[in-house]
Amino acid sequence: MSLLTSDISYPAEQQAYAERVKRIVCADGRIPKAQVVTYGCQQNVSDSQRLKGMLSLMGYEITENQEEADFIIFNTCAVREHAEDRVFGNVGATKKLKKENKNLLVAVCGCMAQQQSVADRFKESYPYVDIVFGTQVFHRLPEFIYKRLNSGRRVFELEIKNEKIVEGLPVDREDRFKGYIPIMYGCDNFCTYCIVPYVRGRERSRSAEVILKEAKQMVDSGYKEIMLLGQNVNSYGKGSSDGINFAKLLRRVNDIEGDFRIRFMTSHPKDCTEELLEAMRDCEKVERHLHLPFQSGNNRVLNSMNRRYTREKYLSLINSAREKMPDIAFTSDIIVGFPGETYEEFKDTLSLVNEVEFASLFTFIYSPRGGTPAAILPDPISRKEKGIWFDELLKAQDRIAKKLNNKAVGQVVRVLIEEAAPADGYLIGKSSGTLNIYVKGDESLIGTFKNVKIDSYSNVLYGTIIE
Ligand code: 5AD
Ligand code: SF4
Repeated sequence: MSLLTSDISYPAEQQAYAERVKRIVCADGRIPKAQVVTYGCQQNVSDSQRLKGMLSLMGYEITENQEEADFIIFNTCAVREHAEDRVFGNVGATKKLKKENKNLLVAVCGCMAQQQSVADRFKESYPYVDIVFGTQVFHRLPEFIYKRLNSGRRVFELEIKNEKIVEGLPVDREDRFKGYIPIMYGCDNFCTYCIVPYVRGRERSRSAEVILKEAKQMVDSGYKEIMLLGQNVNSYGKGSSDGINFAKLLRRVNDIEGDFRIRFMTSHPKDCTEELLEAMRDCEKVERHLHLPFQSGNNRVLNSMNRRYTREKYLSLINSAREKMPDIAFTSDIIVGFPGETYEEFKDTLSLVNEVEFASLFTFIYSPRGGTPAAILPDPISRKEKGIWFDELLKAQDRIAKKLNNKAVGQVVRVLIEEAAPADGYLIGKSSGTLNIYVKGDESLIGTFKNVKIDSYSNVLYGTIIE
């Protein structure tokens, strides 16, 4: 299912390319199949939904079965090395498929493809990769496929111009009640370990008008949860003429009539303002959850990461949010073993975790990214040692998660029933914070809000629907 995101239409030039591709790939009356393989963050998942929308426009049917695909596209992530290695392996596996299906086209896009060195490697060592393109031109997929089919030449396009975002892309949201809305792209923060500012380019916000139209359209067609996405949502609207910053945008989305929830990701602590926390408090549709990555609990390390806040500032934000919303749940990202970090400094991260009591954590061992300032810093601690620290962090978090889950027993919470659980007859409901609660019920309840009493906790939370 695909729909247009706003009244602003997808560029006529690309629509014309899509028509031409359709005529070629559907020529024999057969419906061609396309697979989109996605790595990395929600932003990539959201981009992939737009890739799928464009592919539908070109006549392709989306498949999960690689063997039957006529077009395979890998939407890649560059944040850590491990993800990159997997991509090279999985792209390599298409060589065999191409031997069996001579019409198969293979494309690679996203953050990893944006790096010149990676694009060059595909060009030289992966001759069966037909199309490689970067993060700022992905709306031109129909053009790239057409050029490949028509000229027979491989297509490489990595242009980064940091121009206005192209609107009106068709989107295949997959899920019928939860959906993403990207509100801004790129990042200007240049944390010293991070490749994102290099591969996604400068911060660019979509207009509030387009975002609100898209949100309204989703609510009107039955969506119950909208996730506003950006590498750094707190920078939304910087430099825009309408004066709508992220806090104001949240209030506007909240004003849309209907029974739905609003989530957002990701916030940078240096830009997380009182105005934003007040907007969260005042907006009944905004979930009681704040994902606020702190990366390290030590001020020297934070400084070396160019995070531009201190441990004290971070804790004061947490306290301020808790004062305004006592039931708020926090989650965070942490990097263990940043170059030069000592065990003593790592213990400051541990103590911050114990102090805040996050609902859950995304924890990463530092991975050097070529071209970033941190990649050339001395890094004397071995990977093995970092692994020991990492396990210590996981153990601490495990204890905290158990404690928070036990504390939740007895509460009554409103959940959105999201999916059937692997265990027979159970459904999983998600609270306005971050609790996942297993309840008995019929699958017809998926996509509805219910009040649930939390009965017990053993590995997972169990509850009963009370209304
Ligand atoms: N090494 C390890 N983790 C990283 N992240 C970003 N860059 C790196 C890196 N080079 C983590 C950060 C960020 C999350 C999305 O990924 O914690 O918040
Ligand atoms: Fe990377 Fe920092 Fe930007 Fe997040 S805020 S995308 S960690 S540079």
